[in-house]
Amino acid sequence: MCGIVGYAGSRPATPILVRALRDLEYRGYDSAGIAILGSADGEGVEITKRVGKIANLESALDASPGSEATTGIGHTRWATHGRPSDLNAHPHTSCGGEVVVIHNGIVENYAALRSALIARGHAFASETDTETIAHLLEERTKSGLSLLESLRLTIAELEGSHAIVAMSPSEPGAIVAARVGNAGGVVIGYGEGEMLVASDLAAILPHTQQVAFLAGLQLARVDRSGASFINGDGSAAAVEPRRVPIDPVSALKGQYEHFMLKEIMEQPEALSDTIRSLVTLEPAGVHLDDLGPISERLSEVRRVILIGMGTSLHAAMVGRAFIERLAGVPAETDNASEFRYRDPVIGAGTLVVSVSQSGETVDVLEAMAVAKAKGAMQVTICNTEGAQTTRVADGTVYTRAGLERGVASTKCFTTAMVALYALALRLGEANGHLGPGQLGDHIQDLARLPDAAARVLQDHAPYKTLANHFYDARHFLFLGRGLAFPVAMEGALKLKEISYIHAEGYAAGEMKHGPIALIDRGFPTVAVAPAHALRSKLISNVEQIQARGGEVLAIASEGDQEVAALANHAVFIPAVSEFVEPFVATLPLQCLSYYIALRRGCDVDQPRNLAKTVTVE
Ligand code: G6P
Repeated sequence: MCGIVGYAGSRPATPILVRALRDLEYRGYDSAGIAILGSADGEGVEITKRVGKIANLESALDASPGSEATTGIGHTRWATHGRPSDLNAHPHTSCGGEVVVIHNGIVENYAALRSALIARGHAFASETDTETIAHLLEERTKSGLSLLESLRLTIAELEGSHAIVAMSPSEPGAIVAARVGNAGGVVIGYGEGEMLVASDLAAILPHTQQVAFLAGLQLARVDRSGASFINGDGSAAAVEPRRVPIDPVSALKGQYEHFMLKEIMEQPEALSDTIRSLVTLEPAGVHLDDLGPISERLSEVRRVILIGMGTSLHAAMVGRAFIERLAGVPAETDNASEFRYRDPVIGAGTLVVSVSQSGETVDVLEAMAVAKAKGAMQVTICNTEGAQTTRVADGTVYTRAGLERGVASTKCFTTAMVALYALALRLGEANGHLGPGQLGDHIQDLARLPDAAARVLQDHAPYKTLANHFYDARHFLFLGRGLAFPVAMEGALKLKEISYIHAEGYAAGEMKHGPIALIDRGFPTVAVAPAHALRSKLISNVEQIQARGGEVLAIASEGDQEVAALANHAVFIPAVSEFVEPFVATLPLQCLSYYIALRRGCDVDQPRNLAKTVTVE
């Protein structure tokens, strides 16, 4: 899951590419590189690439003479085949320097292709699978084929899913791109006398909001005057540009030290925007305008399967409870990477709800393909307009969180839960499980959420104090019951993602069946114990931990002195309705992990080994 960008225009390409790579760095930061067409002395291709973060690439570029070249490509890498190194960094070129390539995905048959190429006399410079693409392309361009036709024939030889961008000195001013399967998107940006190609919108939006998306097996050729498109079989593809409504300013960090903190603090507004886009108070109603044909079929739904990965899977787990409780429909969750391989039983009336903030996670897309082949109705919850998942699903519920840049997801988690709450209400309304009065009450509860969230986020002093106390713990247990169980799972995930402290999220009732053996003073427990989450049962779990000398931090509802007295530390959240509790209980956990990671000196926005969007298996 790498970041890809290409620029063909009339401005110097290097600064545009470097800035774009900064915008894409969240997709991977093992190495970064650019190639420009027409080097400082006006000839050939000039490649600069460095292992590590983009700052290393920038230093290398600062040391070389500035180039006026106006066509180039850039890449930020999350390593798959070949360890992170200068040599393995993209762009890659062929032995003759005829073609230069950047790539996102895995060439699954690269070993066979590489051996065949070596047998035909090719010499490889790197250990990557990507380099095989450059060699394959060069064989074809040397035989007189155009770069686009060479790419079309080459992708037919590759196994796996890919996004590939290439250019060649033999076609100055042009860039070609291909999308094969779901390994990652390719977006084409239409500027004034300039065109961009990128793996996602973040790199394009600073220049233009006029974009086109490539579908599964499509290719594009761009130069400064525009773009042309073909399908994998060589026929012309009808790909139309459209305007995407995302404000590029929101991509900036603003007053905050980290995107993660900014995004935590944006939650009241993101929640409010999402709620306002999905429900009305007067008259009380849920309006899911992008549900498409599913809006007419909701009363047919007999079973719901929710799928997702990472934080989105935790949102799905909360959504499962919303759907069962509010719509009375049996619901289950599954990790998308398991679902896709387990030959799931999908009978008539099954609705698959996928949750993916990016809409590009490969396991989710593949799971959706399985569900589609088995005839499921599909709705996706997504934060990215026009993303892949939204094109596969029959209907979408969009969240309005704005761009999320921190690798650890925050506002996309809470807004996804809003979308799931709204979907559950709509389902309950459609199948008659919810009466009009109940619907109105839930919408009132939702309407109070942004304010409750703002109150939790008002004062960070308690989180900083707790972080100072807990920052050197080596393990953490997070416990919750009912709707607080997925919240505990998410709290543990946030902590391990950004602070590298081992943390486990457990259903509190399971604690006695193993985890309790670990409890001692150096193994603190966070008990997510708001008023409704089977609080009295959770209290007995806290007592059992206390009895074994464990230290407990409780997340409790305002005024709950009983829980506070039992725990060693307590953070209070506003007393809200049962279904709004998971939202407000999440926020202290996000803040706690943020300040613990900060205190430990961790790279909060770019934790090691992680990437924001995972487009490889
Ligand atoms: C990565 C990110 C997580 C995210 C997960 C699913 O692991 O680091 O923050 O929850 O992917 O991403 P999605 O875009 O499908 O929600």
